[in-house]
Amino acid sequence: MSRLWTRGMCALIGICFVTSLAAYGQTAPAAKSFDLIAWNGGKFVYGADYYPEAWDESQWEKDATMMQEAGINFVRMGEFAWAKMEPKEGQFDFGWLDRALKVLNAHGIRAVLGTPTASPPAWLYEKYPDIAAMDENGVRYRYGSRRNYCVHNADFVAATTRIVTAMAEHFKNHPGVLGWQIDNEVGSPKCFDPASRAAFQAWCRHKYQTLEVLNSDWGTIFWGHTYHDWKEIPLPWNTLYETYNPSLALDFSRFHSDSLHAYVDIQVAILRRVAPRQAITHNEMGMYSGVDYYDLNRSLDFVAWDNYPMFGKDYAQYNGAGLAHDLMRGSKDNQNYMIMEQQGGAGGWATFFGHQAPASLYRVWAYQSVAHGADGVCYFRWRTSRYGTEQYWQGILDQDSYRNSRYFAVAQTGKELGKLTTLLQGTKVVSPVAMLVSPDSRWAQQIQPGVKDFEYDQQLHDYYDAFRRAGVSVDVAFPPSDLSAYRIVVAPALYVTDQTLVNKLHAFVKSGGTLILTFRSGVKDEHNVVTDQTLPGPFADIAGVAIHEFDPQVNEEQELVGPGESRYPTRTWNDILEPSTAKALATYGKGYYAGKPAVTENHAGKGLVYYVGTESTSPLFYDRLIAMAAKKSLIAINQRIPTGVEVAVRQKPGTKIIFVLNYTGMDQTVPLDQAYQNALTGKTEPMDLQIPAFEVKVLTEK
Ligand code: GLA
Ligand code: GLA
Repeated sequence: MSRLWTRGMCALIGICFVTSLAAYGQTAPAAKSFDLIAWNGGKFVYGADYYPEAWDESQWEKDATMMQEAGINFVRMGEFAWAKMEPKEGQFDFGWLDRALKVLNAHGIRAVLGTPTASPPAWLYEKYPDIAAMDENGVRYRYGSRRNYCVHNADFVAATTRIVTAMAEHFKNHPGVLGWQIDNEVGSPKCFDPASRAAFQAWCRHKYQTLEVLNSDWGTIFWGHTYHDWKEIPLPWNTLYETYNPSLALDFSRFHSDSLHAYVDIQVAILRRVAPRQAITHNEMGMYSGVDYYDLNRSLDFVAWDNYPMFGKDYAQYNGAGLAHDLMRGSKDNQNYMIMEQQGGAGGWATFFGHQAPASLYRVWAYQSVAHGADGVCYFRWRTSRYGTEQYWQGILDQDSYRNSRYFAVAQTGKELGKLTTLLQGTKVVSPVAMLVSPDSRWAQQIQPGVKDFEYDQQLHDYYDAFRRAGVSVDVAFPPSDLSAYRIVVAPALYVTDQTLVNKLHAFVKSGGTLILTFRSGVKDEHNVVTDQTLPGPFADIAGVAIHEFDPQVNEEQELVGPGESRYPTRTWNDILEPSTAKALATYGKGYYAGKPAVTENHAGKGLVYYVGTESTSPLFYDRLIAMAAKKSLIAINQRIPTGVEVAVRQKPGTKIIFVLNYTGMDQTVPLDQAYQNALTGKTEPMDLQIPAFEVKVLTEK
């Protein structure tokens, strides 16, 4: 699997990685578990992303005072200030950052510093134009934006090494610097220049060892694409990858993720060597699929990510951000994490993305982060920029620094989180259900979606949202995750598998777990080659079904009958199931396969396997399905939570904290299993909890 290659690949990507290799083995590994609250001196990490370089120094003191008033004890700074830190090659100026830290520290505010590599200075592009990535048409990006460097470029790696080393040396003993954010949202673009092609060929050589193995595993016999020299291996130049071998294309996705990881590791190695007392993180992007975060996070001390829940547009659709929180938590084995950019205002670049949310909703979204396991919330950004691309991307304050309604919402939340810190510390989300997210399947389905509207993330949401509507905590598991503590694992569209993962899922079921599989499972091996077994391939026996016919849905005319007599519309794909040992729970309602099974249930070992051969547009179908599965797995559900209200739980032995979050503009009544105590007021709340519009209640057992 790709993650195994990361370290070895560094050596192969070229001389550019040699500097980093020297550091491997000398550095402390990432912390096994990390307590963010302890790290921040016992305070809940509450902060803002601050850009002192863009404001007159005379304003810093006023900013720090207003931050302190709002309960802010943390800032992230510096991640785009390379040009100010290194105005000329090899000449450094950190004096301004020292002065900013001094002002902030005096107000009890400590910092994570961003290494500034996401936005290299203009002089670097002038001197080394090839540091810019090349797109698939052979055109290099040019200076003027950010994040368009190529990690395979030796000059860029040398410049990275220089600035990160200088920064680390300067701040390594600074008591006001808690740690480091590497770069900023690593991900795109993929680079298609000659250096990257050579690096990909080297990566392939390291992985496959011989061309015979590569040719066989990729099936290059098709269209006579057999390679006789490593140098012949192309990059998948076509954006749609349509004319490329899907095996090559999947390896290129893995290679891109590995390359980004290797680039991050160059910085990690420097920081661990020079500044071993400071922690290391990165600001990740939730559902973003370009990087295998489970792999990347092995190098980091804790997960941080950038959370913009408003982009769902319908504010009551809280599960968009919810799944992203859970995926981010799962990408480091459910260790608590922080939000490095929590939405602090409306977003937009040339235009705003949506209308303005009421200030109280920013508070609810911040609590949602906490409810899903964040021990830190840092808003993007302290104040909206007067300059540049993000003049329409609001901070907490607008350009005039007026104490607006968002500021008061932030201040209220800061005060409350201060009160709740002791209660929260050490509590975690504990889930009986996991969604299995397979980076390989996600990439392979981006390469070949199979049908026009196939969306992997939608498959996750079909099930995830149903469990969350019923108040059930859900984790996200990755292929290497330990599944043994879960009662139900949902593995939607598990298209690409390898023997290790297949064995793990078989063992999970045999020992009593419930597995929910869906259409397009078990179709491909780890090389993105179609199995020659009858579908669902390696899962046919535990699912107790065979699939000899399927119907890709273009017109979406089909419907499901059942569970019960109800009918639900289908979309995307219809597998026509032939049960061997399974029992049909639903059949198709129309056309030439009317009456044929669509959803089945099968006992295997001590466990149970559901196979759902289609997708429905009806949330009710999923509500009924998960209710059946939950009942058999003895998972308590509450399907009476009003639409637009979320119930989430953090716990540790002896403590249970229930967050009730109302994302709607209406007062709501939420029937709970008992009367709880309000953790902020100390008052007892009734079992039929009353919650006002855009409000949150934090409850504990009395
Ligand atoms: C054409 C080509 C075949 C095959 C089919 C389906 O007919 O000649 O080789 O590619 O299209 O794509
Ligand atoms: C991302 C980036 C930030 C900022 C915001 C808003 O989260 O990390 O620097 O650009 O988006 O655009």
